Amino acid sequence: MTLRISVIGTGYLGATHAAAMAEFGFEVLGLDIDPDKIATLTAGRVPMYEPGLSELLLKHVAGHEGSTGRLRFTTSVQEAAEFGDVHFVCVNTPQRKGEFAADMSYVDTAIDGLAPYLTRPALVVGKSTVPVGSASRLAERLAALAPVGAGAELAWNPEFLREGFAVQDTLRPDRIVVGAHSERAERLLREVYAEPISAGVPFMVTDFATAELVKAAANSFLATKISFINAMAEVCEAAGADVTQLSTALAYDERIGGKFLNSGLGFGGGCLPKDIRAFMARAGELGADQALTFLREVDSINMRRRSRMVELAREQCGGGFLGRRVAVLGAAFKPNSDDIRDSPALNVAAQIQLQGAQVTVYDPKAVDNARKMFPSLTYAGSALEAAEGAHVVLHLTEWAEFRRLDPAELGAVVAERRLLDGRNVLDAEAWRSAGWTYRALGRPS
Ligand SMILES: NC(=O)c1ccc[n+]([C@@H]2O[C@H](COP(=O)([O-])OP(=O)(O)OC[C@H]3O[C@@H](n4cnc5c(N)ncnc54)[C@H](O)[C@@H]3O)[C@@H](O)[C@H]2O)c1
Repeated sequence: MTLRISVIGTGYLGATHAAAMAEFGFEVLGLDIDPDKIATLTAGRVPMYEPGLSELLLKHVAGHEGSTGRLRFTTSVQEAAEFGDVHFVCVNTPQRKGEFAADMSYVDTAIDGLAPYLTRPALVVGKSTVPVGSASRLAERLAALAPVGAGAELAWNPEFLREGFAVQDTLRPDRIVVGAHSERAERLLREVYAEPISAGVPFMVTDFATAELVKAAANSFLATKISFINAMAEVCEAAGADVTQLSTALAYDERIGGKFLNSGLGFGGGCLPKDIRAFMARAGELGADQALTFLREVDSINMRRRSRMVELAREQCGGGFLGRRVAVLGAAFKPNSDDIRDSPALNVAAQIQLQGAQVTVYDPKAVDNARKMFPSLTYAGSALEAAEGAHVVLHLTEWAEFRRLDPAELGAVVAERRLLDGRNVLDAEAWRSAGWTYRALGRPS
C-alpha cells in the first residue's frame, strides 16, 4: 500500500515539501494552523512566490481539473494524525525575541498536538532547523504523549532547500541526511525518498545530533563565506582595491570556488541570520561557545554592510537625506523570492527613510509583503516609476530584471544620475558611459 504522508506547517518549506511528496506518488495531507493559508492552498494557489511551485501544486491538489488529487490540506490535527504513516514537521523556528536562541515553541506545540492522536505506529520526521539536542528531547516527549507509546518514533531530516530553487532542491537535493535510531525509521525514509535515491542522490543515515548539526554547520559555512568576501570588500575600500576582481581571481582556485563569493550587501532572510545566532546560543549552552565566537564576527561583518550602504547613499545625497528622493530596487531578501524576512534591502530602505529621505521601493514580486511590514515606505510598480525624480538609485536585490535596465532610459527620469550597486552585478562601464556616477561596495570610486 502507498505510504500516506502528512506535512505539518505549510509555509515556504512545508508547502514545497507537500507538493514534492505528491509528485513522488504519495497521498499527502498538509496541515497548518493558518486557515487562510490552507484555503489558498486548497484553491490551488501558492501563498508565496516560488518558481515552479504553482504548477506542481495544481498538478496534484484534489478538486482541480486534470490533477492527480493526491494532495489535500486541512486545519485539523486529528485528521492529519489519523491520515499519515509518516508525519513531516515543517513549522517555523524563529529567533526568540531579545535573544539569539531559537524559539522552539512552534515545534513543541506541533509535537504535543499530534502525539495524543497517534494510536497506531507512525514515524514523525522533523525537518525544521532546530538546536542540536532537540530531536532526542522530542523523541522522548512523543513516545510519552502518544497512546501507541514507542510505536510513535521520531527521526530528523534537516532541509537544505534554497528559496527561489525550492522545487528543484526538494525533488533532487544535493544530499538527504537522516538522523534515525531504528531500521524501521531508515526503511520508511528510504521508501519516501526512493525516487531521488534511485536518481543517485546520496542518502546518509546518522545519529540525531549529527543530523541536526549538519544543517547548522552548512548554514554557518555559507554565512562565513559571504562575510569573508565582504570583509575583503571593507579592506578593498580602505586600500583602493577592487573586490570584484579579487573574488574573480580567488575563484579560479578550485579549493576556494566562486559560489557564495560575491561581495555585496550581505545575507538576510528567514534562515541564515537566525540560524547562526541560534547555533552560537546552543554552543554556549553546551559549553562549546569558544568554537563559534567567529560567527559573531560573521554576523557583525554582515550587518556592517547595511550601515555602509546607508553611508554611501548619504554621501551620494550630498551629506544628508533631508528633502532627498531615494529609489530602492529590490525588497526581497534574495531574487526569485517574495520573502522579505530580515531583508537587507528593506533594512537599508527603512534606515534611509528614518533619516529623512523620501524612499520609493520597487520589487518584481515582494512589494505586497514589503508594504505590510513597512507601510511608511512608498512603493512603485516598476523600476522606472521608482526612479522618478530620484537623487540616487540603490540596487539592493539581485533580480535579473535589474541587470537588463537601460541606463539611458532610467537616466531620463531621475533627478541625478547616481547609482549605488549593492550587489556588484551591474555593468559599471555601461552605466558610467550613460553619464551615471556608479559606486559599489568594495570598489574604487
Ligand atoms: N524557508 C527556507 O528556505 C528553509 C530552508 C531550510 C530550512 N528551513 C527551516 O524550516 C522551518 C520552516 O521554515 P519556513 O520558511 O517554511 O517557515 P514559514 O514561517 O514560512 O512556515 C511555517 C508554517 O508553519 C505553520 N505552523 C506553525 N505552528 C504550527 C502548528 N503547530 N501546526 C501546524 N502548522 C503550524 C505556520 O502557520 C506557517 O505556515 C524553519 O525551521 C526553517 O529554519 C527553511
